[in-house]
Amino acid sequence: MADDRSAQVPSGTGAADRPAVPAGRDAPGHPGTARRPATVTEVRDACRILITAGPTHEPIDAVRYIGNRSSGRMGIALATAAHAQGHRCTLLLGPTDIAVDSPVGLRRFRTAADLAVLLGEEFHHCDILVMAAAVADYRPALLLPGRPGEADLSPGTPGRPVSGAEGKIRRMDGPLTLVLEPVPDLLAAAAARRRPDQTVVGFALERVATAEELVRLARGKLARKSIDAIVANPLETMQSASIDGVLVHADGTVERPPRAPTSKDDFAAWLIRVLAARWSAGNARPATA
Ligand code: CTP
Repeated sequence: MADDRSAQVPSGTGAADRPAVPAGRDAPGHPGTARRPATVTEVRDACRILITAGPTHEPIDAVRYIGNRSSGRMGIALATAAHAQGHRCTLLLGPTDIAVDSPVGLRRFRTAADLAVLLGEEFHHCDILVMAAAVADYRPALLLPGRPGEADLSPGTPGRPVSGAEGKIRRMDGPLTLVLEPVPDLLAAAAARRRPDQTVVGFALERVATAEELVRLARGKLARKSIDAIVANPLETMQSASIDGVLVHADGTVERPPRAPTSKDDFAAWLIRVLAARWSAGNARPATA
């Protein structure tokens, strides 16, 4: 983590792309961009970033699970970018074969429940949480003989609770009904307990026809989960090497990387710069001299 960058203008807000102007004067058309004297505040732009990535696997028995097609590539790229930009990064990574090459703090999870435990341990240590993991919305709870219409789903029915620790479910003559139960929204739960100095960012994967629809859905999800920002990207992003994503902030601002679609590595570098710059701007501390 670099400690000597306190006087740098945070990049990623677009400030770095604007023409240089004399200190104390705003750039034409960009109010509020004047460079402030470095002695007034110290901008601490190295921060602690917690990233979740990859799918969850929710067990049906000891050998089967319900999963999703997330590769974890986006979250790994974010962790790599965070490390490269001098931030302290912890990556909570689900079941994926993709290697993590950069020296970040790595902790692995398999299920949403595992991830909830890790978030419980790690969240309060971070400045920014980026939930890029594709967390299950439902998990197997009960296995019943018969078709859904036939199976008695009323409370108290003796069914077989699903547990990953149990052995393999044997083939049977008739159909089986697998009852799913909802998984708590881990992102909304983290947002509900965040401190004022913490930023909580989600990812939304949406099937959309237009860019406007993508932003509209992302705004709705951001508000429902009461988070600070959300990266919205179309369904095609999953298992792809590139991403055509936008960043929607709770204040209504929408930001896009300079080029789109872009590689996940380039998108990650841009996103980390934007988030860290915003976090630093909102958490500037008086200079300690
Ligand atoms: N998420 C979570 N816990 C869950 C499900 C999702 O924390 N049980 C997080 C994801 O990590 C992601 C965000 O919520 O950052 C949005 O996930 P997404 O699947 O797009 O949204 P959902 O709220 O699950 O809604 P839907 O699937 O209906 O679009």
